[in-house]
Amino acid sequence: MSLEVRLEGLSAHYGDTRVLDRTDLRLPAGSFTALLGPSGCGKSTVLNLVAGFVRASEGRVTAGSAPVRGPGPERGVVFQHYALFPWRTARGNVEFALKRLGLPRPERRRRALAALAEVGLADGAEKYPAQLSGGMQQRVALARALAAEPEVLLMDEPFGALDALTRTRMQHLLRTLWQRRGTTVLFVTHDIDEALALAERVIVLGGTPGRILADHTVPAGSGDPDLRALIAHHLGSD
Ligand SMILES: Nc1ncnc2c1ncn2[C@@H]1O[C@H](COP(=O)(O)OP(=O)(O)O)[C@@H](O)[C@H]1O
Ligand SMILES: [Mg+2]
Repeated sequence: MSLEVRLEGLSAHYGDTRVLDRTDLRLPAGSFTALLGPSGCGKSTVLNLVAGFVRASEGRVTAGSAPVRGPGPERGVVFQHYALFPWRTARGNVEFALKRLGLPRPERRRRALAALAEVGLADGAEKYPAQLSGGMQQRVALARALAAEPEVLLMDEPFGALDALTRTRMQHLLRTLWQRRGTTVLFVTHDIDEALALAERVIVLGGTPGRILADHTVPAGSGDPDLRALIAHHLGSD
């Protein structure tokens, strides 16, 4: 299940400051795109516009055939900070997020346990966040997003706080989940190697106000040093 996402003539302002300038972008259904750029260039703003947390000052976002007017269950979001409730177990956190879908309790439980198993946390379902490592907590946050069966997955530097080894494991997990589910993924990062390890396509955002500086297809299994150098050049020439 996946949806195409389209950004058309999209601008965003905070007060009088324009942070995104008339940006067009089409994310085909089922594609995996990394949005790469230095801190402050507007990556989170783009993600929050697609999530429906921030309103565009010009232009529009559509997911499938519907204009985005606010958050919706078909668009799942994972942030760097997992924001789990400390007084709920892993399962409780995932179940709680499903309440707004109006699912009956047994269905919430079934989906929560299935999503936790999918991210490799079947054994941690009854643990509280304080009993889980950072990587495990981020798995719970991922399960919480997946349990709603989103058609678009929006991730904002989700692995930025993890140690290198855990981060690599989470990247593999995410690739596997994407290959299995076919969800459209938009993944924000400021790490060029993370972008190249994960995505089929890397969009470089930069400038003030932010705009798209480059759009590269990443060949499958690519460790192409020329592509990396080219993207690094676009990142640096902002
Ligand atoms: N809520 C906000 N109010 C005012 N300015 C903001 C707000 N959020 C972000 N900004 C500013 O907008 C610009 C883009 O921010 P952001 O989208 O968070 O960039 P990135 O995620 O690439 O670091 C930055 O200059 C940031 O300071
Ligand atoms: Mg950000």
